Amino acid sequence: MIESIHGVRGIGFGGDYNPEQWPDDVRLADLDLMREAGVTVVSLAIFAWASIEPVEGRYDWGWLDDTMDRLHEAGIRVSLATATASPPPWLTRKHPEILPRTADGTVLSPGARQSYAVSSPTWRRYAVRMAVAVAERYRDHPALALWHVDNEIGCHVPHDYSDSAAEAFRRWLRRRYRDIDALNDAWGTAFWSQRYGDFEEVLPPRAAPSLSNPTQQLDFARYSSDELLSYYVELRDAIRPITPDVPITTNFMCTTATKWMDYRRWAAEVDVVATDHYTIAADADRHVELALSADLTRGVAGGRPWLLMEHSTGAVNWQPRNRAKGPGEMMRNSVSHVARGADAVMFFQWRASRAGAEKFHSGLVPHAGTDSQLYRDVVDLGAAVGDLAPLAGSRVEARAALVWDYEAWWAVELDAHPSEAVTYMDRMRALHAALWRRGVTTDVVGSTDDLDRYDLVVVPTLYLVSDTGAANIAAAAERGATVAITYFSGIVDEHDHVRLGGYPGAFRDLLGVRSDEFFPLLDGEVVTLDDGTRADVWTERVELTGAEAVRTFADGPMAGRPAVTRHAVGAGHAWYVATRQDEAGTDALVDALLAESGVTPVLDVPAGVEAVRRVGDEHSFVVVINHTDEVAAIDLTGVDLLTGARVEPGFKVEGGACAVVQEA
Ligand code: GLA
Repeated sequence: MIESIHGVRGIGFGGDYNPEQWPDDVRLADLDLMREAGVTVVSLAIFAWASIEPVEGRYDWGWLDDTMDRLHEAGIRVSLATATASPPPWLTRKHPEILPRTADGTVLSPGARQSYAVSSPTWRRYAVRMAVAVAERYRDHPALALWHVDNEIGCHVPHDYSDSAAEAFRRWLRRRYRDIDALNDAWGTAFWSQRYGDFEEVLPPRAAPSLSNPTQQLDFARYSSDELLSYYVELRDAIRPITPDVPITTNFMCTTATKWMDYRRWAAEVDVVATDHYTIAADADRHVELALSADLTRGVAGGRPWLLMEHSTGAVNWQPRNRAKGPGEMMRNSVSHVARGADAVMFFQWRASRAGAEKFHSGLVPHAGTDSQLYRDVVDLGAAVGDLAPLAGSRVEARAALVWDYEAWWAVELDAHPSEAVTYMDRMRALHAALWRRGVTTDVVGSTDDLDRYDLVVVPTLYLVSDTGAANIAAAAERGATVAITYFSGIVDEHDHVRLGGYPGAFRDLLGVRSDEFFPLLDGEVVTLDDGTRADVWTERVELTGAEAVRTFADGPMAGRPAVTRHAVGAGHAWYVATRQDEAGTDALVDALLAESGVTPVLDVPAGVEAVRRVGDEHSFVVVINHTDEVAAIDLTGVDLLTGARVEPGFKVEGGACAVVQEA
């Protein structure tokens, strides 16, 4: 059996543990409850700096020593944090220069958390000192299984505009461009008299009278992601020599809501990818969004198993209306993450707080205590996760890919574009959802990743693409894949300079189309296509230069012109979608793409039932999640690991229930 966390056999189960919030009798009771619930791993000391070092230089390790020892005696492994996620008040009082600043100059005060500027040399010095102190203290502790560096780095302050950030940005720019004329060329500073004579003149894109230089904004986003990552790397490198055999990671936020950290670059620096995911209660399709975020995490992890470091047992505290999960939803969410490659199911947090900003956030032990539906469900989930041990280390199978590029996301949503209604996640979610509805598992990959194993490559809104990325995507079609690209793709190069000669720039030849002008639709304006489906947001004047029109506009500014096109390329095909199709149009498109590429669902399942296959060295597994209220008949043969029962084709999965079939 494979161990993704040292000493945890199978799929890890547990969550953040904050014993510093509780008296000792509660801490003692926690251990029995954790055992009862099947907890195998906890994340400890994430926000514990002020409890460990209440006064500068005076350490109180007692409570943490006891916790580590007791957890070890209980057989629970520890993902130990560097305790740096929230500076203690004495530090921000002594060194207010470590506080971050927003674009309009507002200093972000202490009193919440993450009140530090990662670029501040003073903060770095103190954070390294703390991380080293924790590592030295517990270097030989038998409970130590994994290092958890800081916490959700960049979550609250993805962009800091402080003076230390300005200096770090200039250092980053000097490394990137070497001489100032290269920066001037890249930033197009002939425009609006922005030409720089020296790197010292350059600032972060702080609040300005009008639109800031877009390449300056894009480079600041790149710098910010790199600077946050370099903070992780500095802490990692400080603790590595102290515990050379303990893996080190930090919890990413690989989700459709987290834009500013380029986790593909980050993944290279962690020993195992770990991520946090929270569903949005108001989103009726939150289980589909969960699937996309999990597919993204797997892509970031290069297809290897990853750790779900946090999700919630029930309500969170940070949405406008925080509703508990419905019956079976925590189980379905957990099993869906495992289906898509997670080798741990962990939560924020073990025990719901009774004070502080997160007191209404759910935990494994709710305010109501153990005599509660939630706690009973947690105990059941712990047992189920235990039963899934054989899946650990296995890999998810997929023949379809969705291209996701963080820089394209940053660039496409910059200001002063043809339409503010063109957003990166819109087509990403719509196309992924259409594939999800058809039971097709999708890998989420980068534009320059190896696409060889995919028969279908879907490219939503890839506004910014490098020549290498564009060539990589074109090569997939040449080789025989079906490639589909949506509007406002291929428009600019990596400097955000328009590719001249007609749209969609980098993909004109591949797609066999050329547009000379955009006609974005006005707010609320809807057009009809020749098959009666509807579309909004976008149209453009497409001329066919080799492609055929599959759909044309029946009305609107582009009436009679191509809306969806298809171009034979080498052994494959490249499709262009020049408008924002409604769900029926998107479904029809995806049906055609699947038919052409030969990509099929994992299983023939009723609508609303999710099925994903993980393949291990000895066995393959199909995870089935019934998101409907109806019983579903499933055609699989093997053993359902959740019940231990042998199953034959036609076996029943109840509405809201899951099955995990080890195939035989
Ligand atoms: C994030 C943080 C946790 C907690 C949760 C609440 O994931 O890492 O500390 O604040 O959000 O949902």
